Amino acid sequence: MTNDDLFKSLIAHTKEYGFIFPSSEIYDGLAAVYDYGQLGVELKNNIKKYWWDAMVRLHENIVGLDSCIFMHPKIWKASGHVDAFNDPLIDNKDSKKRYRADVLLEDYLAKLEGKIQKDVEKGKRKFGEGFDEAQFRATNPNVLRNAEKMESVRTRMNEALNANDLAALKQLIIDCDIVCPVSGTKNWTDVRQFNLMFSTQLSNTSDDNGGIIYLRPETAQGIFVNFLNVQKSGRMKIPFGIAQIGKAFRNEIVARQFIFRMREFEQMEMQFFVRPGEEMKWFAKWKETRMAWHKAIGLGEENYRFHDHEKLAHYANAATDIEYNFPFGFKELEGIHSRTDYDLGRHQEFSGKKIQYYDPETKESYTPYDIETSIGVDRSVLAVLSGAYKIEKVDNGEERVVMKFHPALAPVKVAVLPLVKKDGLPEVAQKIMDTLKYDLNAQYDEKDSIGRRYRRQDAIGTPFCVTVDNQTLEDNTVTLRERDSMNQERIPVERVHDIVSEKVSMTRLLEKLK
Ligand code: GAP
Repeated sequence: MTNDDLFKSLIAHTKEYGFIFPSSEIYDGLAAVYDYGQLGVELKNNIKKYWWDAMVRLHENIVGLDSCIFMHPKIWKASGHVDAFNDPLIDNKDSKKRYRADVLLEDYLAKLEGKIQKDVEKGKRKFGEGFDEAQFRATNPNVLRNAEKMESVRTRMNEALNANDLAALKQLIIDCDIVCPVSGTKNWTDVRQFNLMFSTQLSNTSDDNGGIIYLRPETAQGIFVNFLNVQKSGRMKIPFGIAQIGKAFRNEIVARQFIFRMREFEQMEMQFFVRPGEEMKWFAKWKETRMAWHKAIGLGEENYRFHDHEKLAHYANAATDIEYNFPFGFKELEGIHSRTDYDLGRHQEFSGKKIQYYDPETKESYTPYDIETSIGVDRSVLAVLSGAYKIEKVDNGEERVVMKFHPALAPVKVAVLPLVKKDGLPEVAQKIMDTLKYDLNAQYDEKDSIGRRYRRQDAIGTPFCVTVDNQTLEDNTVTLRERDSMNQERIPVERVHDIVSEKVSMTRLLEKLK
């Protein structure tokens, strides 16, 4: 199966089993907006809990916050979003389709990268064991030509974006012979800037702004404007962090790749305030800490990498992305940014309120510097879904679809299954359910053959199945089946709760971060 087919089949699977549905589907959907179904919401909540506990519980100097989506409109002026939160857009005059100019170029670069990869694979096949990839990349004429082209396009693109030179961006699209994927033509409009913030109106104001307020495009600003409140009320000492999980909204033009790029999504952001001059040390620390958090989920260490930014936002002095190997390639999952004192400084300037910290150790007052870690909840869900999704051949030659979630993240932890719907087995199974349901998301299922029920639980990623059979009536034991190995062992009924709880424990996952 190609990656493209695999991705399509994953999307179909998530809908069929109740993880993710297109929003407003009976009205033909709403582009780039998705709803989480009965299993999706459990998975998402588990990921949020894993993040929250890793950040807030495991760090004594990080506290939480829940600020509102609506905020004073001046905040977005101060943050720079009103003037500069733009995407460069270009329309194709024949198909009337609108694209992000930088995304068209990124796709072009990805195609060149794909060509290089194909040549490398060909070389591997041709030269077998003695293949030296580094030497091949340094000498093969096709690879060199495409690598040079990539370098030149990337440099021109970054220069044009940095200089906000929209004409140069259009010229680059023309020079690369990029055609519209729908019409196949190069009949492009000029490139224009388009602000990504959604706005709405407050009903009871008639200020200069016409009462316009914005739906926040990031949760971060809610943290900055509450810096003094939290620092003073919590008597926080630098360095300290404020963490928040919440909705964000962006009027994305190129909304695609399922829940990777949405118009309404959730972020998990943490701002870590430090002494000026110490930010690089903390930036390095947070890079390492956040990468460890991702890798502990068990989707394969090789599927994560850093991508350091060449083009820095004007307020940042360092930035990196943690990229994940999604079915459509390595893409940003989380951003880690050293944002200097820009945000607090701007809010001080725009609000007229002094936002400073008195450092009892140095006996100085200053505007703290900030390291931000910012991860999309939905992108994390997509990483976990795509990393967990496996189609396997089993012993009897049949195929099984199995979601190999980390047990602590799995939406359903355990299924309780009476082998048959008679002989008192359902009653015993219900009693076991009663011992589990207070602590664990447990599912009871008595329909169909046991084999089909195991397949259904595999398909939703339930790590353990407890089967009640006739032997249970004799010796009060049940079988415990493990999802990945499909091994079964007999355990006493009274041990089911403790054994399963231990195996699916979030604590064990968090302990890996020590
Ligand atoms: N406060 C910094 C900030 O918002 P960002 O790189 O624009 O930085 C941070 O976004 C993270 O939010 C991204 O790494 C991504 O995981 C997630 N994200 C951003 N836009 C998104 C979208 N349209 N749909 C889903 N997730 C998105």
